[in-house]
Amino acid sequence: MALLRELPPTAGMPIEPLELFNLFFSSGDFSDSIIDFLKVDNVEFFSSATTALWISFETVKRMTGRTHVILPGYSCPLVVIAAHAAGLKVRLCDLRPNSFDLDQEHLKEIIDENVAAIVPTDMAGLPSQIDGLAEIACVYDSYVIEDAAQAFGAMRGAKRVGRDADITVFSFAAGKGMSLLDGGIATATNRELRRLLRTTSADLLKSNFGLAFLRSLQLLGYSFLYNPIGLKWIYGNDLRKSLSTGDLVHAVGDYFELEQPHYKFADWRLNLGTHLIKRLPQFVSENRRRARKRVQQIEKQTNLMVLQESAETQGNWPFLFLLCDSQKTRNKIMSDLWTAGLGVSRLFIHELAGYEYLKPLIESSAQSTPNARSLAERSFTITNTEWLDDETFKRILEVLKSYAPVAV
Ligand SMILES: Cc1ncc(COP(=O)(O)O)c(C=O)c1O
Repeated sequence: MALLRELPPTAGMPIEPLELFNLFFSSGDFSDSIIDFLKVDNVEFFSSATTALWISFETVKRMTGRTHVILPGYSCPLVVIAAHAAGLKVRLCDLRPNSFDLDQEHLKEIIDENVAAIVPTDMAGLPSQIDGLAEIACVYDSYVIEDAAQAFGAMRGAKRVGRDADITVFSFAAGKGMSLLDGGIATATNRELRRLLRTTSADLLKSNFGLAFLRSLQLLGYSFLYNPIGLKWIYGNDLRKSLSTGDLVHAVGDYFELEQPHYKFADWRLNLGTHLIKRLPQFVSENRRRARKRVQQIEKQTNLMVLQESAETQGNWPFLFLLCDSQKTRNKIMSDLWTAGLGVSRLFIHELAGYEYLKPLIESSAQSTPNARSLAERSFTITNTEWLDDETFKRILEVLKSYAPVAV
């Protein structure tokens, strides 16, 4: 039977069509709103988090004259592409078991005087463990660049993520909590870095009015179609088509061209951002409440593990990231739920070293990341969208209980 509803894999904050009028009216300056929201000193705008990472990598490369960057073994392929754009070779650091945090013992083994930066990543909107990284980086005069693409609005202690690393990068891509279809920002804690980020950006990026105009039109389409009826057309049909041919990498959108569009993000979507950021805190706290309740239900009724906030942090919870005891169990769950339109999906199909097309960009001696591989093999995600109501969540839970029952 054809599906009538399709839930998104992540909890993007829907844009009401009437809100689009804000594109044409400024209710303040978007950079001031972000500075106030994150309590940071500055913000630079880019066409995506990939562009923000590229410019950040380029900046630390210029500052250090180094050749390498250390990325987590499990992350978005676009981060490797950003390092490549900056002419840096990627070295992979494994993760702690069943965690998104960098394994600091492994990090100490692989860092050396060739490394310009290390990149802790706040996957699934969960602030990563950042304590201790600055000390390790400092030994080699390397920088810490936090990839918070998925974590705009998440908290460490009483502060929003954005002030803990030398540079922090966020994304406003489609499906992110606050989305402008694309766009990203970088913020730096040190005055000199801020100045250099700005000059690198001015050197390398140009305005692209054609692309900015196209993206604005696409944003109109997105705001009308980002709902359980429209998502079938902009997401579900392609997903099912890729899955029917066994192309998992395309199914989750893990394949990217090595040449990405990079341009100066300075169009009227900034006006919309100024408006949307006002209702973001409420949106994030509802996501958090819903996620925590569902994590408890899953942990009580199944033997699955849900990756969660570490002490003193609060995620923004775009989705729940679950781990099975084995790849076999995960695959059984996915065969029932992936095409059901319920927002059950997978994050990244492989650990970074597992993508054939990225292999030439990664240092060949640094491709063994067994814990990252284990995450890729045993994980799946459940959307945290407000459109996943309790009744529908219960249906998902029934399937999870049947494949991953609690031990008696
Ligand atoms: C962890 C991570 N880093 C970087 C990016 C790149 O973000 P963007 O799509 O804005 O370029 C993504 C995209 O989803 C991501 O998940």
